[in-house]
Amino acid sequence: MSGVFEAYAAYYDLLYRDKDYAGEARYVQGLLVRHGVPQGRVLELGSGTGRHAEQLARLGYSVRGIDASAAMVSLAQRRIPQDLQARLSFEVADVGSARLGSQFDAVIALFHVASYQSTNHELAAMFATAGSHLKPGGVFVFDFWYGPGVLTDPPAVRVRRLADEDATVTRIAEPTLYPNRNVVDVHYTVFVRRHATQETFELEETHRMRYLFLPEVELMLDAAGMRVLTAERWLSGQLDLTSWQGVIAAGKLQLAAAGPSRGGSA
Ligand SMILES: C[S@@+](CC[C@H](N)C(=O)[O-])C[C@H]1O[C@@H](n2cnc3c(N)ncnc32)[C@H](O)[C@@H]1O
Repeated sequence: MSGVFEAYAAYYDLLYRDKDYAGEARYVQGLLVRHGVPQGRVLELGSGTGRHAEQLARLGYSVRGIDASAAMVSLAQRRIPQDLQARLSFEVADVGSARLGSQFDAVIALFHVASYQSTNHELAAMFATAGSHLKPGGVFVFDFWYGPGVLTDPPAVRVRRLADEDATVTRIAEPTLYPNRNVVDVHYTVFVRRHATQETFELEETHRMRYLFLPEVELMLDAAGMRVLTAERWLSGQLDLTSWQGVIAAGKLQLAAAGPSRGGSA
């Protein structure tokens, strides 16, 4: 997926200005606490501009974020608040291949990072990264596009327009569903109008998103030495056909319980 998010990274925080990162971080904290990680070191896969990481640091966790987009990492580094310097760091790395030589109490991947891994190979590689960086008993929390919800209410064209003191940004999202590959190509056209100069320019990116079904996720987690502990609707209870967004908390299997077929865990 390299290249995705380079063009419109600068407008990402504006486009998601109203997203409740603080509330989402409290929800993730709730999942972590429920599964025995009330504090500790967290590895965030696909940390973007670092807004969940910041909120989790405010809740007491230390977060090390990795992201393939140098533009996103640079934004995240620049917005680390002074009082959280000791608890936050961000670096460029791919979630499929990063091996940091360190183990964490939890690994998280939020706001569709798993669905950006659109092939079996990419998703298995991301799960292997998560599994290999978790301490035994550690927890992996990630959200994803939930297949039954996506197919029940397929994606449609959406327009999002936001403005700040510098610019007005209008983003058109045009999806194409490929049901035999379980993916949706979302073509974004982003129009940026700068107030100071009245200049308008246009950016385009296509993001390939995979929607997932629980049995395949369970199989891939198992191969990475993890097991589903919780599968629910993001922020609100039970998964069902009306929901696009699922979340899973998976636990790292202890070696003795892992059985002969496990691979990928350190
Ligand atoms: C929708 S953004 C979410 C960012 C952040 N987690 C948030 O909640 O705002 C998806 C992020 O995943 C990153 N990403 C996708 N695939 C990746 C990969 N293979 N390796 C590292 N980062 C990846 C993108 O660069 C982007 O920053």
